[in-house]
Amino acid sequence: MVQKRKVVLVGTGFVGMSMAYSLLSQTGIDELVLIDIDHEKAVGEAMDLSHGLPYARNKMRITAGEYADCKDAQIVVVTAGAAQKPGQTRLELTQINTKIVKGVTEQITASGFSGIYVVASNPVDLMTYVVKAVSKADASKVIGSGTILDTARLRYLMSEYLNISSANIHAYIMGEHGDSSFVPWTNCYIGCKSLLELLDERHKDLSDLHDIYTQVQQAAYEIISRKKATYYGIGLSLNRLLAAILHDEHSILTVSAYQQGEYHQENLYIGVPAIISSKGIEEIIRLPLTDVDQAKFDVSCKTLKEAIEQTID
Ligand code: 2OP
Repeated sequence: MVQKRKVVLVGTGFVGMSMAYSLLSQTGIDELVLIDIDHEKAVGEAMDLSHGLPYARNKMRITAGEYADCKDAQIVVVTAGAAQKPGQTRLELTQINTKIVKGVTEQITASGFSGIYVVASNPVDLMTYVVKAVSKADASKVIGSGTILDTARLRYLMSEYLNISSANIHAYIMGEHGDSSFVPWTNCYIGCKSLLELLDERHKDLSDLHDIYTQVQQAAYEIISRKKATYYGIGLSLNRLLAAILHDEHSILTVSAYQQGEYHQENLYIGVPAIISSKGIEEIIRLPLTDVDQAKFDVSCKTLKEAIEQTID
């Protein structure tokens, strides 16, 4: 018997619903269950999405549900929690969202859920740590969206700058999904060519790319100051992550993954490139970081570890 492919979304705010909407063009899902503290909102969202199904690529059953529905799900996506307000950093949400994400995880775990947790609530590296700590699930089965969106922003901007398809831009944002992230430029490739060599040949300066990084780092602040929230970018990024899991892709994506010494750091979640399959995180890809980049990674880890000690543990 073919197993039903079921995804549960916890949190039907803008981020969760942008992902849910984009899942209508995704294949590989039989059932989507929406859970929200405001059940009526979840019911309304399920109705609204279902009405688009005749025109959707994928036919799935969409319902508003309860935590008990997580029991036989393949993936539970957690987007519940407060969102950044204009001028607020993601880290400033730690206290309020730790409480919310702890409660949500306890209920998901109580259902008997044994699939993969995908976490997007901010600050995502810390909230993914909370989900792992509360659920006691294996590290491979708890994945944070990490720097998947930051990497998409970087690839988009580099694609515009170089006039080369983003599909051929192999560049990652690593570290915290937040202010201390960084780009390991010496590990960036355009097709099979080193980015630094290409820039040299085109007489372009690395300082232009530093400006691009700054645009990525400031992107959420800029969007939030203009339209109060970001959701389409993260919605599509979550869709991409779910596709890698549902289709057992073994694709490399920059997610928040539990560190066990791969980059000389332990016991925290942070953005690194990792192979994603139906089992979750198969393997963290180790890049040969320069000393400068390793120092940036360490600073990012220190920021997160301080927040864990002060607010979570
Ligand atoms: C973003 O980067 C706010 O974390 C969200 O768009």
